[in-house]
Amino acid sequence: MSGALSFENVDEIGHVAGVDTSKVAVDIVDEDILTRITIGQMVAIQGVTELEHLIGIVDRVTRGVRDSLPDPNEGDELFIGTVFKDSIRVVLIGTYRSVDGSKKNTFKRGADSFPQINKRVYNIQGKNLQRFMSLLSADIPSGEQLKLGAFVSDANADAIASGDKFFQRHAAILGSTGSGKSWAVALILERSAKLKYPNIVVFDMHGEYSPLADVEKGGFARRYRIAGPADLEKDDDDLIFLPYWLLNRDEMLSMILDRSDQNAPNQASRFTSHVRELKDAFLVSQGRDAIRKTFTVDSPIPYEIDDLVRRLDGDDTAKKTGAQGREIKGDWEGKLTRFVSRLKARLEDRRYGFMFQPTKSALHYDWLSEQLFKILCSDTKSGIKIVDFSEVPSDILPVVTGTFARLIFDVQFWMQPSSRTPVAIFCDEAHLYLPVKEDADSVEKQALRNFERIAKEGRKYGLSLVVVSQRPADVSKTILSQCNNFLALRLTNDTDQSVVKRLVPDAMAAMTDLLPLLDVGEAFLLGDAVLLPTRIRLDAPAIQPNSATRPFWKEWSSTVSQADAIRQGIENLRGQTRLPEIAR
Ligand SMILES: Nc1ncnc2c1ncn2[C@@H]1O[C@H](COP(=O)(O)OP(=O)(O)OP(=O)(O)O)[C@@H](O)[C@H]1O
Ligand SMILES: [Mg+2]
Repeated sequence: MSGALSFENVDEIGHVAGVDTSKVAVDIVDEDILTRITIGQMVAIQGVTELEHLIGIVDRVTRGVRDSLPDPNEGDELFIGTVFKDSIRVVLIGTYRSVDGSKKNTFKRGADSFPQINKRVYNIQGKNLQRFMSLLSADIPSGEQLKLGAFVSDANADAIASGDKFFQRHAAILGSTGSGKSWAVALILERSAKLKYPNIVVFDMHGEYSPLADVEKGGFARRYRIAGPADLEKDDDDLIFLPYWLLNRDEMLSMILDRSDQNAPNQASRFTSHVRELKDAFLVSQGRDAIRKTFTVDSPIPYEIDDLVRRLDGDDTAKKTGAQGREIKGDWEGKLTRFVSRLKARLEDRRYGFMFQPTKSALHYDWLSEQLFKILCSDTKSGIKIVDFSEVPSDILPVVTGTFARLIFDVQFWMQPSSRTPVAIFCDEAHLYLPVKEDADSVEKQALRNFERIAKEGRKYGLSLVVVSQRPADVSKTILSQCNNFLALRLTNDTDQSVVKRLVPDAMAAMTDLLPLLDVGEAFLLGDAVLLPTRIRLDAPAIQPNSATRPFWKEWSSTVSQADAIRQGIENLRGQTRLPEIAR
């Protein structure tokens, strides 16, 4: 194979005029050339030998105008007509070699040497660009290729990432509302579904990914739903309950303990002691002696919530016998009243039913392993799981997602390492439950702890996060900074842009200035899944999520609103669930 890059005179754009570590100033030879150069374009700079070129990305284009030059003899200005002094600035990102030892056509990240002054600079365009792009993806073994779309600079060149690297160390998909994140998620899921044993859990906040599970449309995913208020008596296979006994002590207390109550320490300690005893009693009833020796209050072991309420009520009302045999105030008397009533309020609220009114079968010892097998199983038909959280009340959404993610982490953690298979969790609308720590309430802090642990330690246990958000500035910094790959779509807000700017390597920061200018479905892909940060146009997924941007103007001229639909909406609002259609 001949060199992937071979330049002719027409490709030459200028020569090196200055070098400042990773940035190179290039003087442009011909004023026409400048008009053809855009930010983000790739250029090659002649290296020390014929066989080597340094590859860079244009990050600034400037035109200076000079009208005169000083006359060295007179010291006076000598007018010589208008002179353009065009220059560009290039960020060095890699080294290309046409021959490298025994190998041909290699590209590696990072510049091996600094360019020398006056070396020629070429535009990488046309055939050179196509060959160079395929060289980049050729480096990714075919079994590992994740095709996301095409390069914006050349629609014929496929944009391919390493599927392994994309998931290995967490990824983030960021962009303003309507920029194409959900479509990108659907696309990645679709590509993953082509594998034999994909294992992905999608946290779907709006129920928008359900078409992906629609068999009639060619769907490839399994859909599950956190049980809503209307589902509590059902035992459907696709309903998910997260019974209270799955929650560890802190998760449970984050929902029912009011830390500003002066009796909070008493309440927490009585709660802990009773839950431990109830779990122990359950283990006794099941004959699980081995587990009894080592379990803790945080272990997911069933117990009856009514028993807990009874015990707490007992504490709250019990008197004790004083020195003279007289009845005096009990140790906990009156101290648990508020705690018990907060707990009871949760138990009665049907919106929290998936947690506090689980089906009877959810109190069986083996229930948890059956449930988690559904969530973690990875055959072709059910490896991609969409979990619909749309009916979960927003105030406890963080605990629910957090507990769910923690369970997956815990199972991965405790599983025999040799039998572990990798799992990825897609966190759509992550700003809703992974907020910045300073702004988090107790429920959110609890969820953050779980997700931050996955972000920090998940890699070792084959668990990866894909964080998706329209407000990167509102998403936990700890979690975002653990992400190694970014799909950055159009981002219009300043604060959000600066978050992305801080996350990407310095040399790439200038590219983030282009974020507000990207088209819908266009993105920068950067991170270790690609050799070079690139601007790509994402493919449209075959099955699209229910997230269509409505054509207001068109619909206002064609579609009338319906009284029945509004009536139905109000009934759903009252019932806090999407009821089957009401009779007219
Ligand atoms: N790759 C693409 N190619 C063409 N059109 C696209 C692409 N991605 C998205 N769109 C268009 O943009 C619309 C919105 O996309 P999407 O639902 O993915 O946005 P989003 O970023 O998830 O927004 P939100 O943050 O509000 O959820 C789609 O309905 C579609 O019309
Ligand atoms: Mg979306």
